[in-house]
Amino acid sequence: MEIFSGKTILITGGSSGIGLEMARQLSLQKARVIICGRSRQKLDDTIKRIPGIITVQCDLTKKDERNMLFDRISNDFPNLSVLVNNAGIVKRFFISETPSLEESIREELETNYIAPVVLSQLFFPLLNKNKGMIVNVSSGLAYCPIFAEPNYCATKAALHSFTQSMRIEFAGKGVKVSEIFYPAVDTPFQQGHAPKFAISPEEAASMAIKGLISGKNEIRIGKAKVIYFMSRFFPATILRLMSKAVIENAKIIFDSK
Ligand SMILES: NC(=O)c1ccc[n+]([C@@H]2O[C@H](COP(=O)([O-])OP(=O)(O)OC[C@H]3O[C@@H](n4cnc5c(N)ncnc54)[C@H](OP(=O)(O)O)[C@@H]3O)[C@@H](O)[C@H]2O)c1
Repeated sequence: MEIFSGKTILITGGSSGIGLEMARQLSLQKARVIICGRSRQKLDDTIKRIPGIITVQCDLTKKDERNMLFDRISNDFPNLSVLVNNAGIVKRFFISETPSLEESIREELETNYIAPVVLSQLFFPLLNKNKGMIVNVSSGLAYCPIFAEPNYCATKAALHSFTQSMRIEFAGKGVKVSEIFYPAVDTPFQQGHAPKFAISPEEAASMAIKGLISGKNEIRIGKAKVIYFMSRFFPATILRLMSKAVIENAKIIFDSK
């Protein structure tokens, strides 16, 4: 079933990794896909890979640029019916050893939490008019944090909480709100240190699209299902196991800096 055929879809951060792959697969399903990102070079490379894709250069942490994105889309694509809040960044650090902690956590918070929340509100009237949907991209780490990415996990947990409230409010108004929980995915986000069990962006995007087509509110992919289940029933065990699992990987990442 190709429910996205003919739909106009905005994927933030669609110039790399999972967002890029989702843009490619949805374009193949004959959706009109718009992406945004900060790097003009990455957007231009994406145009070469996905002919017909529409790109808008925009830093979502900046209010004037978010407003510019909204103005451009509401003028040129008033039939937008899907907003995928996908853009995200991760910073790996030890809390006790990071002098510029405030700066570091602020950028992550603005990208991973404030931007999707504010964009959802900005685009709500347009999506409401078009009986559309908002898709927030989360992570299995929203359910259980890992020690080397403390603020990233906190931003995804915050987004998860906000998404649940937004779903209840917007459902009464006709806009569906879904959330995707990815496991580790081998993309540039992993900075060359993807764990062995990471899945490919092709598989991640394909499972996410299948979940959206099935109408699920919360789409948990691969190991994100295990983290969800364990965090409900065995929270202390999963916290311990996850920390153990990332310790070796974190050592490699920090040692190579
Ligand atoms: N990869 C994983 O293991 C994994 C696991 C769970 C969840 N996720 C989530 O999945 C989403 C996509 O991750 P990914 O792995 O595909 O990452 P990625 O390959 O690093 O791509 C991130 C995208 O976001 C854009 N972006 C970053 N900051 C931005 C900003 N301030 N304004 C506009 N665009 C911005 C980047 O483009 P520019 O750099 O040009 O701005 C890029 O297009 C993220 O929300 C991430 O948290 C990833």
